[in-house]
Amino acid sequence: MLTDLARRFGTPLFVQVLDGIEAQVHKLSGFDVVRYAMKANPCLAVLREIRRAGAHVDCVSAGELARARAAGWTAEEITFTSDIYDHGALDAAVELGVHMNLGSPDMIEQYAERVPGGKVTLRVNPGFGHGHNAKVNTGGPASKHGIWHGDLADCIERARRAGLTVTGLHMHIGSGSDLDHLRRVAAAMVDAVRVAGKSVRVISAGGGLPTPYRPEDNPLDPAPLAAVWNEARARAEELVGHPLKVEVEPGRFLVAEGGLMLAEVRAVKSVDGAPFVLVNAGFHNLARPMLYGAFHQISILGRDGEPRRPTVVAGPLCEASDVFTQGSTGEPAPQELPTAEVGDLMCFHDTGAYGSSMSSVYNTMPIAPEVVVADGIPRLARPRQDPSAAMASEMALLQGEEGSVNP
Ligand SMILES: Cc1ncc(COP(=O)(O)O)c(C=O)c1O
Repeated sequence: MLTDLARRFGTPLFVQVLDGIEAQVHKLSGFDVVRYAMKANPCLAVLREIRRAGAHVDCVSAGELARARAAGWTAEEITFTSDIYDHGALDAAVELGVHMNLGSPDMIEQYAERVPGGKVTLRVNPGFGHGHNAKVNTGGPASKHGIWHGDLADCIERARRAGLTVTGLHMHIGSGSDLDHLRRVAAAMVDAVRVAGKSVRVISAGGGLPTPYRPEDNPLDPAPLAAVWNEARARAEELVGHPLKVEVEPGRFLVAEGGLMLAEVRAVKSVDGAPFVLVNAGFHNLARPMLYGAFHQISILGRDGEPRRPTVVAGPLCEASDVFTQGSTGEPAPQELPTAEVGDLMCFHDTGAYGSSMSSVYNTMPIAPEVVVADGIPRLARPRQDPSAAMASEMALLQGEEGSVNP
């Protein structure tokens, strides 16, 4: 099927299989609410599948709010998480009436001004964080995210003075975290509930649940994590004297393994005797390896079982960092691959989260198309985007006509 899809839609191409999503959502049934962090993959077909599986959704921009509504979520099922209020996003979120998760103290008065007497969640930085790379660690003293745990009492008082009620507490310490750190968050949450007091009704464990990217990685069993959070809930309920809901906010856990990216080998060369394979996809399509040395298993269609050797795989961009096989500090990390030939199709595995959603148009490259597959039937969700559309207003400027941007 993949060869056929590449022929029909061209490469680079993202393919997202929807069939496993429901099972991933159900693995988290030990939590009261599964809230999908849409940033991982905002494709509408993916969102609809996640909504149908019973999950709610978290958004971070006006565009994501529009997608959440288009996928069928009601305002009550949507939250908005951010560390600043972008004006447009605040307008959109207030108009829709979605629940807000505030990650900076200044947002308290900004929100109170727009929604007097509103109810909010505070995102708390518990003083530690953890992720698969330092760049996705969202807790601890080096992180811009959340309200520092030591400032929580002040912020509760600040919210009270502004006329807001703090009904929720949220902690997200990083992406691709490990079970030990995720467990520590539950203990930190009980401390935060002690500080915030009786108005709290919902506690959120955040996301960060890891995905097995390497063949030797084991898939996470979320049941022990849910058990830890349910114990934390019981202790927190004793403190506040009423029932609390526990939410979890996964992104990659729901979608990473269902996605892959196809690219075509366009050049094969030897650099100081080592094989380098250049494909027609780069970090404008799949940024994770360049951003933080993320590993994506690579295979070459039709070459299973052939002898392998350490191979560098890179893209077409005019950037030395446009390499898919690199470690977390940019050091070379070649993958054992069969010998490739021009025209071969390369498959980058587990790209369903933070793959297509982080695409850019660097080097004036088009955003790659995305195909979704359900019950074995592929459908084009997004065609290849034409970069010349973005050029039109610049062209008009050169021609002395009025561009699309007003002075
Ligand atoms: C606030 C928040 N929640 C949840 C997530 C999802 O993280 P993950 O995809 O690692 O589960 C993120 C990711 O950056 C996030 O910023």
